[in-house]
Amino acid sequence: MNKTTQLYEGKAKKVFLTENPDLVIQEFKDDATAFNNKKKGTIAEKGIVNNAISCKLFTLLESQGIRTHLVEKLSERDMLCRHLDIIKVEVVVRNIAAGSLVKRYGFPEGTVLEKPIVELYLKDDDLDDPLMNESHAVALGVASLDELSVLKNRAEAINAVLKKFFAERKLKLVDFKLEFGRHKGEILLGDEISPDTCRFWDLETNEKMDKDRFRFDLGGVEDAYSEVQKRVLELD
Ligand code: TMP
Ligand code: ASP
Repeated sequence: MNKTTQLYEGKAKKVFLTENPDLVIQEFKDDATAFNNKKKGTIAEKGIVNNAISCKLFTLLESQGIRTHLVEKLSERDMLCRHLDIIKVEVVVRNIAAGSLVKRYGFPEGTVLEKPIVELYLKDDDLDDPLMNESHAVALGVASLDELSVLKNRAEAINAVLKKFFAERKLKLVDFKLEFGRHKGEILLGDEISPDTCRFWDLETNEKMDKDRFRFDLGGVEDAYSEVQKRVLELD
């Protein structure tokens, strides 16, 4: 399968059309941004690491009956995917308080949440991806109530699978962001699952092993990403 025209260039990936209209190729870049593009940089080999981690996690989810856009890993940086009509909702699942949950609601960082919190954000960079509820999403026409209910249930099921998987690899899955899309009448998980889109803390030391190292200039960004990759792939 070959790339034809570039469909889209995002902050961390490019998406290309292929000869097959049902399939696209996601190319993972090393570019890193934070705080909606206010901070920019590069994380060496990030594209390779995030593609490898995402392919592994999508394959795991598929094996648990959760449909994703992954068709196959084509090369170090390229993932062959089903062509989705992306739903403009970012679904965030939180197991432990961190990031904007701490800022917005005053939870002490590290508070273990009794039940996961699922949040919806409007996927719109110009508006800084605002937090929204179902009424907003329906009024904006980005998804129907039925679709939102599928998204939330799917996000909780994904959390259950991933939490266990990462615990076995001595990582706490603090929180993560998912994107979904429509494909031939089905809703599939899209985008990526990687240290760019998740928070991981070491189970024993609570060391941050994700993009927070880049966001807050903590150093050791590349090492953290490759350590996550190692733990994700090692028990194969
Ligand atoms: P937050 O605490 O900043 O709201 O982030 C929650 C999770 O979502 C965290 O794991 C990082 C991820 N995330 C993205 O993948 N993209 C984004 O644009 C933002 C704001 C968060
Ligand atoms: N992905 C967002 C950005 O590029 C926000 C973040 O991850 O912090 O700015």
